[in-house]
Amino acid sequence: MTPASRPSPPSGAFSSRRLISVDDLSIDEITFLLNLATYYAGFLQRSDPAPGRLAGRTQINLFFEDSTRTNLSFELAGKKLGADVINVPVSASSIHKGESLVDTAQTLAAMGADVMIVRAKEEGLHQKLSEILNCVVMNGGAGAFEHPTQALLDAAAILSEFETIEGLTIAICGDIKHSRVAGSDTTLFQKLGAKVRFVGPADLMPDNNQFADVERYGSLADGIANADVVMGLRMQFERMGDGGADAAQGYYEKFGLSHDTIKLAKPDAKIMHPGPMNRGVEIDGALADDPDRSLILRQVFYGVAMRMACLDAFVTRGE
Ligand code: ASP
Ligand code: CP
Repeated sequence: MTPASRPSPPSGAFSSRRLISVDDLSIDEITFLLNLATYYAGFLQRSDPAPGRLAGRTQINLFFEDSTRTNLSFELAGKKLGADVINVPVSASSIHKGESLVDTAQTLAAMGADVMIVRAKEEGLHQKLSEILNCVVMNGGAGAFEHPTQALLDAAAILSEFETIEGLTIAICGDIKHSRVAGSDTTLFQKLGAKVRFVGPADLMPDNNQFADVERYGSLADGIANADVVMGLRMQFERMGDGGADAAQGYYEKFGLSHDTIKLAKPDAKIMHPGPMNRGVEIDGALADDPDRSLILRQVFYGVAMRMACLDAFVTRGE
C-alpha cells in the first residue's frame, strides 16, 4: 500500500491528558479511541511503518507489579510511534533504598517524561500522580480497581468479531472480586450497551453494593446461557491473602471453561481471557487455543494497536 492510498486517521481533538479510569471517558472519546486503534491495527497487519506521532517524545513505563502484556505492548506501541521508551527496572531501582513511589515518579518526570504509564497496587496513586506530574499519566493497572487500557483493547477485540457491542451478552467468569479487568470491562461494556453478567462462586463476587445492576450467577450453565462472549479470569491469589489457594479447590469442576461447558453459551460464542491464563485452573488449554472460539491472542494483538491509539490521543492530540 502506498502512503497515498493509506486510510486516514479519524479526525478530532482529544482534550484529556490522563487515562486513570474508564469512568472518565465519554462515549465520543471511547469511539475515537476504538477508531484510532482500528487505524493502527491496519499498520500492524500490513507490517507497514506507522506515522511517527511520538517522535522526540519520552515515554516511561513504571511498573511496580509484574506484567508481560501491558508493559511490553506499551513499549512496542511507543516505539512504533517513534517515542524514546524507557522501561524502569523497578527491582534494581532506588525504591530499594527507601525512595517512595511518588518520589520515584517525580524524579522520572523531572528527566523530561512526556508520558508515564504506571502499574501499582496503591489506591489513589494514579490520580495523585496525574495531579502532580507535568506529563500525561496512564493507568497500566491499579490494584484490584482499574485497568482501563485492557477494557479498551477488549472492546476492540470484540469489535473485530461482532459489528457492535450494543446488545451483546457478555459473561465474566471467575475471580471477579479481585479483578481490575472485570471492573473496567464491566463499566466500558455497559457504556457501550452490552449486558454484563458475573458468574462464579459467591466468595469471588464483588460486594453487593458494587456493580449492583449486574446479574450474578452461581451456576455456569445459567450464567453463560445464551451469552455471545464468555470471559474467563485468573484466580488472583496474590490479592487473596492467607487461605487464598483454597479458592481453586473444586473451581474447575464447577466453573472451568472448556469445549464441553461452552456448549451452554450461544453456538458461536467467543471466549476471552485477559491473560495470564492458568490452564486447567479456570480454562482448558484446548479451548484457549481454538482459533474458531478463542479471541485471546487477538486481545494481545489489539493491546498493541489500542496502546498506540491511547499514546497518540492522550499525548499528541490534547495540546
Ligand atoms: N493481567 C491482568 C491484570 O494485570 C489480569 C491478571 O493478572 O490476571 O489485571
Ligand atoms: N492482561 C494483562 O494486563 O497482562 P499482564 O499482567 O501480563 O500485563
